[in-house]
Amino acid sequence: MIPLAALPTPALLVDLDRLERNIAAMAGAFAAAGVALRPHVKTSKCWEVARRQLAAGAIGFTCSTAAEVAWLQSHGVGDLLWAHIPIGPRKVRFVVDAIAQHGGGLTVSLDSVEAARPLSASAFAAGITVPFVLEVNTGHARLGVEPSSAVATATAIASLPGLRLRGVLTHEGHISALADRPALEEAGSTAGALLVSVADALRTAGFLVEVVSVGSTPGATSTPFVPGVTEGRPGTYVYYDANQTRLGSCTLDQCAQTVLATVASVQRAGRPIIDAGIKAMSSDAIAAAGGVGLVLDRPDVTFPEANEEHGFLVGSGLAVGDLVRLVPNHACGTTNMWSHLYAVRGDMAVERWEISARY
Ligand SMILES: Cc1ncc(COP(=O)(O)O)c(C=O)c1O
Repeated sequence: MIPLAALPTPALLVDLDRLERNIAAMAGAFAAAGVALRPHVKTSKCWEVARRQLAAGAIGFTCSTAAEVAWLQSHGVGDLLWAHIPIGPRKVRFVVDAIAQHGGGLTVSLDSVEAARPLSASAFAAGITVPFVLEVNTGHARLGVEPSSAVATATAIASLPGLRLRGVLTHEGHISALADRPALEEAGSTAGALLVSVADALRTAGFLVEVVSVGSTPGATSTPFVPGVTEGRPGTYVYYDANQTRLGSCTLDQCAQTVLATVASVQRAGRPIIDAGIKAMSSDAIAAAGGVGLVLDRPDVTFPEANEEHGFLVGSGLAVGDLVRLVPNHACGTTNMWSHLYAVRGDMAVERWEISARY
């Protein structure tokens, strides 16, 4: 056990009490509704966090990269959804090898017959079947077929050998643009209902649709609970962050991830300089508000800008050597900046945990 004051700074911290409460609350809400919870692992990339999510009832994980898939498979996690298009020969080979070596356990996401063709050819040549979900655009307009072309695209992809449709997927990320919580939740429900209607259209066309998968932290109180949705994929909830406090997904005292920093200089009055900048926090801005992060326990102090290793605070009452704890704007981006974190209870770091599968 190391007192926070004895840690090298900057340091990435995760508050265990908050982490455990966040994991239990989300798992409890999903279990009560009978909806499967498949958290996105990109938020923590940390096995010590992931195994706690599994112990609380998560059915498996959502991944965004091949490295995340490979890392979780090395821990024996047998139900993974790679929610990105396996595009290019290396990703195609990775998927086919991963399924062949582990006897399944991986579902991929597709939204076009063009991206499906090389995967089909490789799967067929290897004598395996790759399960996939069809990604549907319910408003985010990133990946995903338009709902009206879902049946045609699913039919075209499913006619290729070596691929098997399991269901549909959407990421209702567009609802984060809504600052008003009731409007956000209504948009979340609308996205869920749209995906369910696509699943029904596919069933009418003769497909067996077992997975209707939605996922985001802002949407985690609405979208998964639309009747017909089978699973939800929130990720950020495990730590929450400043963006999620703004969206009303959590309160500041639920934010489990912080960066510990030390005031290094107060040469300019009211402008303390800390030893944590963009390379500690990531440069994800807080939507609509700007700034690098929130200063925990010091609402009177702001963190408007940073260089790589210098953070510019604005506020009074801080002296050289003082410690501050900063809540990142976007927990997932901050995680990817670090190779390890300190798990803390109160003012003590109790363990040092590895962060895996980073770029
Ligand atoms: C496909 C997909 N599913 C789930 C999530 C999790 O959303 P959140 O980070 O809001 O929890 C994301 C996040 O970007 C995503 O891209």
